[in-house]
Amino acid sequence: MKNNSIVLVSLTAALLVNSTHAGAEESFIGWLLDFSRTKEVKPVTDKHYQEECGECHFAYQPGLLPARSWDRLLKAEAMRDHFGDNAEMDIDTLKEIHDYAVENAADKSYYKRSRKIAAATADGPTPLRITELHYIQRKHHELPEKMIKGNRSVKSLSYCDKCHTQADDGVYDNDTVSIPNYPDWDD
Ligand code: HEC
Ligand code: HEC
Repeated sequence: MKNNSIVLVSLTAALLVNSTHAGAEESFIGWLLDFSRTKEVKPVTDKHYQEECGECHFAYQPGLLPARSWDRLLKAEAMRDHFGDNAEMDIDTLKEIHDYAVENAADKSYYKRSRKIAAATADGPTPLRITELHYIQRKHHELPEKMIKGNRSVKSLSYCDKCHTQADDGVYDNDTVSIPNYPDWDD
């Protein structure tokens, strides 16, 4: 409690200082933009994660699954049969990637979408796919199959970045969607 009020007081102080500063408007907008970003999912910041996990598909942000999912997926044995593919890698690299994913998982994140995923997966079985989360299925249930599986430029809902033009930045907002071969999907 005490800590919270200290944070509040310093936040208010920072805002007051900002608004009397010459560049007030700019820094206030910067602060707002930063704030709106936390509505999304934290972008990937680990180089090895980006490289190794971006090889066969887009490097999913760790904030899209809870920690126990990453712990299950990113074990050496599991990686040898990773959704039917052998995605084996150097044991030290895998350890680093595992720890990075677990530390930045949905249930460790303060980003809004991650918080929602964490809440929705707090109980029940450990999800191994992002596409099997109710949260993700609910967001896509209105899309006809022809735009996903039947779409030769997409093939599966797993390829987020085919339609979410800013998926690499962790942004999934409706306004940033563009479905290949269906420019008028929204009509
Ligand atoms: C050798 C290729 C390969 C590598 C490397 C690889 N993956 Fe995958 N991954 C796949 C395939 C294939 C699928 C299944 C895609 C599908 O169902 O269309 C998949 C699916 C996934 C899914 C489930 C996506 C969904 O449908 O929700 C997750 C999560 C995932 N990978 C995480 C990772 C992470 C993290 C890494 C890095 C440690 C990684 N992958 C590296 C091939 C790979
Ligand atoms: C076939 C294209 C396509 C693929 C592939 C796809 N999406 Fe989407 N996604 C959409 C569309 C279209 C919407 C907006 C639906 C609407 O407005 O009704 C959407 C909405 C969303 C939303 C909600 C956005 C909001 O503003 O509330 C999230 C989150 C999301 N997608 C995440 C993902 C993730 C994560 C993946 C990959 C595992 C993925 N999507 C794969 C097309 C796609």
